[in-house]
Parts: sequence; C-alpha cells; structure tokens
Amino acid sequence: MSQTRKVRKAVFPVAGLGTRFLPATKAVPKEMLTVVDKPVIQYVVDEALDAGIEHLIFVTGRSKAVIEDYFDIQVELEQTLRQRNKTAELTLLESILPVAGSTSFTRQQEPLGLGHAVWCARELVGNEPFALLLPDMIMKAEKGCMKGMVELFEHSGANVIAVEECAPDQAHKYGIVGVGEKVGDGFAITKMVEKPVPGTAPSNFFINGRYILQPEIFPILANQERGAGNEIQLTDAMVKLAGDQKFAAYHFRGETYDCGAKDGFILANIAFALARADIRPSVEGPLKDLVAKLK
Ligand code: UTP
Repeated sequence: MSQTRKVRKAVFPVAGLGTRFLPATKAVPKEMLTVVDKPVIQYVVDEALDAGIEHLIFVTGRSKAVIEDYFDIQVELEQTLRQRNKTAELTLLESILPVAGSTSFTRQQEPLGLGHAVWCARELVGNEPFALLLPDMIMKAEKGCMKGMVELFEHSGANVIAVEECAPDQAHKYGIVGVGEKVGDGFAITKMVEKPVPGTAPSNFFINGRYILQPEIFPILANQERGAGNEIQLTDAMVKLAGDQKFAAYHFRGETYDCGAKDGFILANIAFALARADIRPSVEGPLKDLVAKLK
C-alpha cells in the first residue's frame, strides 16, 4: 500500500444522467441546480477546499460543458459589472474562482457507472491517495465531512468512507458497512454490502457519498465486471481492495441532502435558506404558515 500522504486531489464524478430529476436535467446538469443562490456543485467543491484539497478533478459527460464554464472567468459579465461599479458582485465572483491550473476535466464517454467514472480519473490522480465526493450529496455541519475524513486518514492511513446512521428498515436502499473496533473518530470497516436484502444488513451505517481512496483502487476498477444495474460499481471494487488494505469509517454527524432526488433537493433549499441571516427573516414566517395550512 502507498504510504500515508497528504490528500491533495479530489474527484467529482458529474457524468451521471440525472434521470431522477427529469425534465429539469434534460438540458441542465443536476450539479448546476441551485440551492438558495449557488449551484449544488459549489457546496461540494467548498467542502473539498475547506479540507485542504488543492486540485479539483471533474469527470464530466457530453452535456456537462456548463460546469467547466462555471469554474472559469466570464469575461463579458465581469466587464459589464465593472462598468456598472457592481463591486460586491465582482468580489463574489472572484471569491469562487478556483486558482488557475487547479482544475482538470476529463470525460466519461458513456455513463457505465460510478466505478467507471472514478476509473476515468486515474491518469489525473496518479499514484497518490485521493478524495472522492459525489456531487449530488450536500452536507450541512459545523465541521465539514471531508475535513473530518482527512484527519481520520492522516491518523489511520486507512482508506476512509464516511457513514451515517439510517433507520434499520431503510438499510436495503444503501451501501452498508459492518462495524469493527474504534479507530480515531470512527471505526474499522469489517464488511461492505451494496443494497443488502432486507433483514440481512450488518449494521444501519450507510455510505453517504464521501471517500478517501488509495490509488490501488484503479487497477481493480480496470478489471471490474458490471454489477448491480449493469453498471461498474465502486462498492464491488472497494470490497476487493479491502482484501489487501484497511478501510475505516468516519461517522459523520450532520445533515446530508440528496440533491439528485426531488425531495432531498427541496429540503436542502429550505435548510440552507433558513441558515442564512439574509434570507431567514423573509422565509420563516411564510413557511410556517404553509405548514400550518396543511390538513
Ligand atoms: P447516481 O446514480 O446518483 O447519479 O450516481 P445519476 O445516474 O446521475 O442519477 P439518476 O439515478 O439517473 O437520477 C452517483 C454519482 O455518480 C455519478 C453521478 O453523476 C452522481 O454524481 N455517475 C454515475 C457518473 O459520473 N457516471 C456514471 O456512469 C454514473
């Protein structure tokens, strides 16, 4: 196994079809849907940067060019803002612009599954550990999920997967891990099962969409056969890697919103709006009224 090294690179697989969010995602990538006033992808990139990530790798698809544009300068817009003395807006745009040369984009030519999307990043990641963030899951917590994971990685040297608890009768919907001895802020993973048959889950800790993986995952993914849904599954490859390397779970204590699903996206908008001092006063009252009117 490679030695524990700093996690410098993060992979964002954004090549999925987003079928759960049609028709919105027919022309707009789901990662560009807005939660309050920022695209979903911005929240996830901010979480990575806050954890010390230096290089952002996006695995995109044909209809996702707008994501690349979003992380670039918009010359005409910025000129117009300057002419109109809109300094606050200009400062805002500057604050979200990644450092030049700190982003890379590659395309997954066919959406063959998450495992395949990660494999497409192999040349850009190279031979070092990397973070993997599913960009439709956004998280709300005092301490960012990836930040806590990087600490656990540096402490343990293990591959790290973030987990949360779900109601036991919901475990069949998720990737579930088996719980071993305590490791730092988390525990050793003894088992990983993707969508266990109801009643057979080893725990109610589900994988929430954040990973730190060693580069030895790539040769496994290269030979990985298609699994559930006829897709190349990341979990199947991680199960194989766990035969050789340690895996630890980081127990994330915060809220996660699945913005790839309509209900998760709406709840994210409400939660993030209510957390904003500039928006809460005008939203809270009408929201309470709406709920009170429900029969
Ligand atoms: P999802 O299954 O949630 O995304 O994959 P999806 O396929 O876009 O969504 P639905 O189910 O059709 O609504 C989890 C993550 O993996 C990426 C997705 O973009 C998402 O961030 N992904 C998935 C890829 O990049 N490539 C794939 O082939 C599959």
